[in-house]
Amino acid sequence: MQIGWLKRGKKGDRETMLVSVEKEGLPAQIRQERGGGNGNFVDDRLITIKEPYSIGAEQYRILCSRISQLTQNKPSYALAITSSVEAEGKSFTSLNLAISMARDFDEKVLLIEGDLKKPNLHEYLKRPPGFGLSDVLEGRIGFEASSIQLLEGRLSVLFAGKTMGNPSRLLSSPRMQEVLNNARECFKYIIIDTPPIVPMVDINIYSMLVDGILLVIKAGKTPRSIVKRALASIPPEKIIGAVLNEVELNYSNYYHGT
Ligand SMILES: Nc1ncnc2c1ncn2[C@@H]1O[C@H](COP(=O)(O)OP(=O)(O)OP(=O)(O)O)[C@@H](O)[C@H]1O
Ligand SMILES: [Mg+2]
Repeated sequence: MQIGWLKRGKKGDRETMLVSVEKEGLPAQIRQERGGGNGNFVDDRLITIKEPYSIGAEQYRILCSRISQLTQNKPSYALAITSSVEAEGKSFTSLNLAISMARDFDEKVLLIEGDLKKPNLHEYLKRPPGFGLSDVLEGRIGFEASSIQLLEGRLSVLFAGKTMGNPSRLLSSPRMQEVLNNARECFKYIIIDTPPIVPMVDINIYSMLVDGILLVIKAGKTPRSIVKRALASIPPEKIIGAVLNEVELNYSNYYHGT
């Protein structure tokens, strides 16, 4: 699928992908009846673990397959997941994508929680916040000791760690580059769940560190003008596409005009 106004590559010749993800809303009781007792280590919202054979989980497999086509000749690929404004589904997308990539595509994946101001990935994984990226960057603990392993070691997750009001200095330090370079030796995919583009500056730092950026857009909620403005502030050559998230009936054509 293609949306014209997302195509901002040189001379408009570069293709971007658009994958739609529906709004998941299955009540917990129905999940249980359908055998949704799967994966008690995660929150009920994580469709790829709770209902791996559902249409919702299939949508993440489609996203994985599009990303793997784009990256098949690369030994490793660092991807930032961002959005124009907050609460569009970055963490939800990052986790489901990372789980599907590790489990269904049998890849070694590292998920990094890159939002050091307002982290919440630990809630999805039902863990205490614990150590994480900021602690590794400040030298309090090593990467191995602070990351957690899931799915028989195919998925590693590095939480944000100690929260901080202004993480820019830390994220732009040589240590951050070093952490990513080391990760590239061990993982095919490094997925970074980043803060929203507006009003944060962190995405400018992340865009220099990663190979690609995937934009999450909350369908029917985020105005197209805001998405366009957000897109204008990140390097166009890094944008690989968008996830139209929480799509409800009749919204699938909302963003397709030019
Ligand atoms: N496709 C979806 N179906 C149902 N619920 C969803 C979907 N995507 C996201 N949500 C829910 O919307 C809320 C916000 O999602 P999420 O935490 O991923 O947003 P975010 O962009 O990471 O927010 P923030 O900017 O605060 O980091 C969460 O409760 C999440 O479970
Ligand atoms: Mg988030």
